[in-house]
Amino acid sequence: MKAEELREKYLKFFESKGHKKINSASIVPENDPTVLFTTAGMHPLVPFLLGEHHPSGNKLTDVQKCIRTSDIDEVGDASHLTFFEMLGNWSLGAYFKEDAIKYSYEFLTSKEYLGIPKDKLYFTVFAGDDEAPRDEESYQIWRSLGVEEDHLFYLPKENNFWILGSGIGPCGPDTEMFYDTGKEACGPNCNPACDCGKYLEIWNDVFMEFYKDEKGNLSKLAQKNVDTGMGLERTITVLNGYESVYDSSIFASIKKKLEELSHMKYEDNKKSFRIIMDHLRTSTFILADDHGITPSNVGAGYVLRRLLRRTIRHLKKLNIEEYVLNDLASIYIEEYQDIYEELKRNQEVVFHELEKEYTKFSKTLKEGERLFYKTIKHLENNTLSGKDAFKLFDTFGFPIEMTLELAHENNLEVNIKEFEEAFKEHQEKSRTIDAGSFKGGLADTSENSIKYHTLAHLLLATLQEIYGKDIYQKGCNITPERIRFDFNLDHKLSDEEKQKIENRVNEMIKSNTPVTFEEIPYEKAKEEGAHGTFENKYGEMVKVYTIGNLSKEICGGPHVTNTGVLGHFKIIKEESSSAGVRRIKGILE
Ligand code: ALA
Repeated sequence: MKAEELREKYLKFFESKGHKKINSASIVPENDPTVLFTTAGMHPLVPFLLGEHHPSGNKLTDVQKCIRTSDIDEVGDASHLTFFEMLGNWSLGAYFKEDAIKYSYEFLTSKEYLGIPKDKLYFTVFAGDDEAPRDEESYQIWRSLGVEEDHLFYLPKENNFWILGSGIGPCGPDTEMFYDTGKEACGPNCNPACDCGKYLEIWNDVFMEFYKDEKGNLSKLAQKNVDTGMGLERTITVLNGYESVYDSSIFASIKKKLEELSHMKYEDNKKSFRIIMDHLRTSTFILADDHGITPSNVGAGYVLRRLLRRTIRHLKKLNIEEYVLNDLASIYIEEYQDIYEELKRNQEVVFHELEKEYTKFSKTLKEGERLFYKTIKHLENNTLSGKDAFKLFDTFGFPIEMTLELAHENNLEVNIKEFEEAFKEHQEKSRTIDAGSFKGGLADTSENSIKYHTLAHLLLATLQEIYGKDIYQKGCNITPERIRFDFNLDHKLSDEEKQKIENRVNEMIKSNTPVTFEEIPYEKAKEEGAHGTFENKYGEMVKVYTIGNLSKEICGGPHVTNTGVLGHFKIIKEESSSAGVRRIKGILE
């Protein structure tokens, strides 16, 4: 089965069960500074899991672009990917365990859909602890569908309870579905949680009925939700009996191209091929995202830089010396353009940034090599200190892998422990820069954060009044303490301009204008001139927030009901965010 077939089948199945299809949201979470990328399908839906009404209804299905880079160093093996697509079905207070499990089982086993033989499937449910009870209900539902006891396992919280990486937000016990690859069990205690490779997880149904707050307290949510996630690439691999995720048709064209360019075989150079295929795909999606992330030394830009530099290094390892990144990225743009329209729309940006980073990195490689040889001239023994290795990395952008390779070629050791300590410090620093002092998360719908959401609309309206309708929001990051708002403008704001913006926003606040919303078809919203920042994330029906005649924006909410409650707006900083993009940091007093 090919990827497009699985996507289609999944969406069709859930549409036939009364779900509304929604588009993938951006790969960058809009209001969650605790993470750099959308890591799961639930990320963009948090407000709705918390009770906000979704304009497409309470049963949804989607394919969400996700990025997880915590295992970046594992890429190159058979299963790790930094980008993947997550198929999901959602109940926002509609159905719960019984229907969710029945749907999953039908989709997995029915001949019309995946047709997996029942004896190949294994299931796990939550064993319970002092915080949340044992999930006997899910166990019994699986049993009632004919699942044998020896295919069902109770497992503890670390395996069967799902919450976002930040550890805050909607959460709950889950039931996970595994495919038996037919490999020998690794021992008498082998079970689906074992990572010996016998069982592969393909789907997870989370029963989100709890909320975990910042202090770690668990409380019941107002509504019982279902959040599910099926990894597209992994399921394709399993269904086709492939040895690796890279055997999927998604990678066929780029694999062929790399073989042509390098005159080498994938089979003999799997690691480099896989790293290039994975990292370049992730980079292409990040660059094509409307948030305008570009390679840099902090936050998401740093992850992107790392992905690209590793790609370039491995291309060189395959003896591909000419510039091929645009050609390779084009293969992915082609592959995905029908599903993710931003790829084609933003392809010039993708090409431009790839070229820019390539040029920069090529210089770095040359310069780094020169400095490496200069440094080792003065060594007292045959070990390069971690400090020197980190300096090469931090000051000159020379990747540690390159240092290690060169050291190896010159019969030297590198004090890697010392390097890692310095690197960790650096990472913590960049994380702090990225996250500010924020504690909440996307799940944060505190009164203050809601005020800042409404402020974002007034700020955009003001900027458009002053600089014209071409001004749009490039990014927005909200904490209960402040707003960070990025927009396109070609110059630094003068003090007078800042004053003018502040005054106009405060005038809008003081006008005590009601904030209302309606749910209308997307096309109608556009006709009415509603502004939408990231258009492709919306479904057919959208929510439009109107602030009198000041602002009309497509937005999921929530918002305050009257501008008057916002208080007084003050710009505390204005700076450049990237080329042609300004960033305002502001507070409400
Ligand atoms: N949110 C769940 C996951 O990512 C479905 O596994």
